[in-house]
Amino acid sequence: MRVLVTAGPTREALDPVRYLTNRSSGKMGYAMADAFAKAGHEVLLISGPTQLEIPEGVDFLPVESALEMYAAVERHIARRDAAVFAAAVADYRPATLSEHKMKKTGETLTLELVRTPDILGSVRSQFGFTGTLIGFAAETQDLEAFARDKLQRKGCDLVIANDVSKPGIGFDSDRNEVLLVFPDHTEAPPEDEKHHLAPMLVREIERIAAEKMAGG
Ligand code: CTP
Repeated sequence: MRVLVTAGPTREALDPVRYLTNRSSGKMGYAMADAFAKAGHEVLLISGPTQLEIPEGVDFLPVESALEMYAAVERHIARRDAAVFAAAVADYRPATLSEHKMKKTGETLTLELVRTPDILGSVRSQFGFTGTLIGFAAETQDLEAFARDKLQRKGCDLVIANDVSKPGIGFDSDRNEVLLVFPDHTEAPPEDEKHHLAPMLVREIERIAAEKMAGG
């Protein structure tokens, strides 16, 4: 298969030296890209800034902001058989980008933020993607209900959900406990290393893609 994977956080610049970001390490997305490549698939990894090594045998496209990630996905999604959206994309960015370093003035500072485009949410509706579509959901409550809502809203075939409030898993961690939310059922595999979970998730995605191709 030709697979596109997004990973890592995005950086939303305020001025030349400051930005807004989040705690995503990129580990889960990189582990997925690596597992797809090891299973013999052609992989394009579109990644926000991370400390990770680029997995072997993967085409790599680095981006910074949500807008850059959106443009990269728009450019490369056509003719992909599967797309996996593991990036923790900022939902808001500063309304203005200051050309020069902002100087401190008053005792308080109010930032105006504007919504970034929903990349995963645009894939079916704007980019006309008909392949296998996988989203991620990081939640701190009502995991299954929020993940199922995302699956339906964004037209996914599977949402891989994890509870980021649990210590030792999820963000920054080498381990993860995921809930697999499919259109008609939910599965809860045991907690494991991200590098062990990823090949299992790749096999699930291969299965979904094969079913779709068979017209299921
Ligand atoms: N996503 C994306 N583009 C965005 C935001 C999210 O592609 N601008 C993708 C993520 O990569 C992930 C999924 O959408 O696969 C997460 O869904 P989302 O509803 O954005 O999650 P939250 O940001 O947690 O949403 P909410 O604020 O509704 O909980």
